[in-house]
Amino acid sequence: PTISDLSEKLRKIGVEEIPRSLELSEDDLPALTEQPIDCQVPLIDFSLLQTDRRKLAKQIGDAARTWGCCQLINHGIPVESMQHLIAESRKYFELPAERKLKVKSFVGDNTSWKLSSLYWAESWMIHGTGSRKDIDEKILSAWPEGNTAFRNLTADYVERMQPFTKQMFQLYAEDLGLEDIDFYAKHVDSSELTIRWNYYPACPQPSTVLGAKSHTDANLITFLLQDSVGGLQVEKDGCWFDVKPIEGALVINISDGFHAWTNGLYKPVLHRALVNRNSPRLSLAGLWNVDDSTPYVAPTELVDENHPQLYKPIKAGEYKQNLITTRSKVDMSAKQKEH
Ligand code: SIN
Ligand code: FE2
Repeated sequence: PTISDLSEKLRKIGVEEIPRSLELSEDDLPALTEQPIDCQVPLIDFSLLQTDRRKLAKQIGDAARTWGCCQLINHGIPVESMQHLIAESRKYFELPAERKLKVKSFVGDNTSWKLSSLYWAESWMIHGTGSRKDIDEKILSAWPEGNTAFRNLTADYVERMQPFTKQMFQLYAEDLGLEDIDFYAKHVDSSELTIRWNYYPACPQPSTVLGAKSHTDANLITFLLQDSVGGLQVEKDGCWFDVKPIEGALVINISDGFHAWTNGLYKPVLHRALVNRNSPRLSLAGLWNVDDSTPYVAPTELVDENHPQLYKPIKAGEYKQNLITTRSKVDMSAKQKEH
């Protein structure tokens, strides 16, 4: 199996240009490092909310500081509906290429900036307001003849995501010791939620490509649902760790925006997706983007002489725009560069 197999595969799904995998440098390739077995991505039981809220806030805060990532179980979104959503989503990607290409905004590797770093992957995304009605209408207009169960399940999922996100932000604010517990949560209603489906076909040569190259997400925070195949890895202290699939768990990833908005206290997690020889893999990312005009200014409690403001108060929209136009992340550092 060679690069020409990859080109062939991509041509079949309507992607002509590529293969970007030619650009993979040695550093990008999925070097398999030993993973210390006693060191795992934190697994947190959200049902602590009922019995020991402080403890829960501390656990998710600690995970955000040290890993920038955790897995949450018992978060209140029914596991069965998540599994059902994964199954219906898989059906979409298993449609023949001609049918998928008829669905608006079906994209391959080279169509949008967000996907330019994705390699052995297909994806589809919807930008929405986070309301049920909005996502429902958007899917219907993109895919009028589409799968009703898929549409309803996505809308159900999004509807549950909004109150859950507010709860998460309140807990983070508690962990950070903010007086205004809604400092972050109050932005959720005006935030944008992008739902992105990633599908990684089984790959004849998995050690030479990646599903997603290592990156931090440029948005605020990402809630990720993955199927049981596995392939997501996160970086900590120079090692890559598998985020082991746990049925019904949500992977919470801190992105660049929340890192800046906590004055650097929470770590934006570097992550990547490996592909495998035997089985296609599906993941579904809920990417929160705060309203474009919101500046990432850290709350006053998090800034003092010992913790000076790390970043310029750049607006969320500017940060994103810069990334779209230059394809590189802007240096938000508040420190002036010396000449
Ligand atoms: C990504 O964050 O870019 C993809 C994550 C995944 O597929 O698990
Ligand atoms: Fe990502």
